[in-house]
Amino acid sequence: MPDLHHTYSNPSQHEAISALIRRHSTHLTDVRQATLEPLDFSDEQEILDLGCGFGFLAEEVARRSPPGTRIVGLDACQSNQRTYMHRVNARDCYAEFHQAQLHDRLPFHDHQFDKVMSSYSLYFFPKIIADVSRVLKPKGTFWCLTHSENSFAGIFRATGIDPNGTTLAKLLCEFSTENGENLLSSHFERVERSIYRNVLIFYRHDLADFLEYLRFKLPLIDSRFKHDAALPPNLVEKSMAFLDRYGRITIEKDDSAFYCRRPR
Ligand SMILES: C[S@@+](CC[C@H](N)C(=O)[O-])C[C@H]1O[C@@H](n2cnc3c(N)ncnc32)[C@H](O)[C@@H]1O
Repeated sequence: MPDLHHTYSNPSQHEAISALIRRHSTHLTDVRQATLEPLDFSDEQEILDLGCGFGFLAEEVARRSPPGTRIVGLDACQSNQRTYMHRVNARDCYAEFHQAQLHDRLPFHDHQFDKVMSSYSLYFFPKIIADVSRVLKPKGTFWCLTHSENSFAGIFRATGIDPNGTTLAKLLCEFSTENGENLLSSHFERVERSIYRNVLIFYRHDLADFLEYLRFKLPLIDSRFKHDAALPPNLVEKSMAFLDRYGRITIEKDDSAFYCRRPR
């Protein structure tokens, strides 16, 4: 597994990558706006955000929720706490943060939450799904957002890295567009999916952004690459040559949101 404590331990760097993704997306609506729309946040609720990171999702959930809504974030990296608390509290919701390394058990009571949510995190701890159905209220909803197993192929085309057997490929197969419904339907009676179609495009003048994105992703692609290390010169050269030849790098980034109801 990748060294998460490094990859996700710097909230401002993670925020910058999140903004970079939005700048280069062909889908013009933010993924949170597009996929949270079917959910009802009109009542004050208790909401759990698994693998909450710096609060990318929780901030939007707080924006949609009435003041006083309690949004509990849980993440392996303690360093996310301050940014997470700030983003939620700024919206007049009540933020709580727990540091924990999730595996298959959640440190919460039965039927505690109205909603459990997880954006781009569940592939790190897919065995938690069974326990999510325990902590949800019977009328609660589990919402999760994940990638397709075909995501990011453009990174491999541009850099010449062999995609087979990478840490990233294994990670995506843990919980994906392709297997998500199957994994969820053992624990929820109703599972619906909506696809958010997206491609990231980097033109020649976007080389610096592409390299920044590559540097962030590299330790997830292959754990031999160290977080914050300089990019290997051969990858920089290959990326430049690819841009010179084709004029742009396109990266597949279709995501799926799952809406799970009636916990079994
Ligand atoms: C790709 S980030 C997504 C963060 C946030 N949900 C978002 O959408 O920006 C994955 C997050 O999951 C957290 N994470 C990974 N494995 C974990 C585990 N076993 N237990 C708890 N958190 C974990 C990481 O620390 C990181 O913040």
